[in-house]
Amino acid sequence: MQTAAPAVFPPASQMNVLFSSNQIAERVAVLGQQIDADYGSLSSGLPIVLIGVLKGAAIFLSDLARAISIDNTFDFVAVSSYGRARVSSGAVKLIKDIDNPIEGRHVILVEDILDTGLTLSYLRGLMLQHKPASLKIATCLDKPERRLVPIEADYVGFSIPNEFVIGYGMDYAEVYRNVPDIRIYPSDPSH
Ligand code: IMP
Ligand code: MG
Repeated sequence: MQTAAPAVFPPASQMNVLFSSNQIAERVAVLGQQIDADYGSLSSGLPIVLIGVLKGAAIFLSDLARAISIDNTFDFVAVSSYGRARVSSGAVKLIKDIDNPIEGRHVILVEDILDTGLTLSYLRGLMLQHKPASLKIATCLDKPERRLVPIEADYVGFSIPNEFVIGYGMDYAEVYRNVPDIRIYPSDPSH
C-alpha cells in the first residue's frame, strides 16, 4: 500500500546539503580509479557489466561508468520500491530483469543507497544464479545503521547516518531525483 504524498513538496534549496555535486564528483572519480585498479588485470577480454537498480542508481551509474576507464556496458533491473512511503515494506519483487546474459562476465551491481540491505541481497542472489565470473556491489551511499540483513558493498561513495536523503538520483515520492547535490529531507513526524 502506498502512503499519500505530502500536499506540498518543500523546495530542495531549503534542505541542508550533505554532499555537494563537487564532493560527489571527486568521490566518484576515486571509485572509478579503484575499479580500474581492481579489474585492470582481469583478462576476460569482455567489458565489465554495470547493472543499475532503477531508478535511483541511474545518475550514479552514468557518472561511475565514465569514471571507469576499462570498457564497461550497462544493464538495468527494477524492483518494487518504497513507492511513496519512506519505510520499506520488506518485500522485494523484480519488475524488470536484465536484457543480456551475464554468465562468465564480471558484474558490478550499482545502487543509490544500501539501506536495510533487502534489495541488494535479493538482487545478489538472483544475479548469482546467472553464474557471472564475479559479482561486486557499488553503492553511492551506505546507511549501515539501518541494515536488517548482512550485506556490504565493495565500493561505497559515502557512509551516512540514518537520515532520509534526496537528490543525485534519489527521490521522495519520485520528486528531487534531478537535484545535483545530496540533501537531507526534513524529518516528518507523520513517518
Ligand atoms: P534497502 O532494500 O532497504 O536497502 O533499500 C534500498 C532502497 O531504498 C534504495 O535503493 C532507495 O531507493 C531507497 N532508499 C533508502 N533510503 C533512502 C533515502 O534516504 N532516500 C531515498 N531513497 C532511499
Ligand atoms: Mg533505489
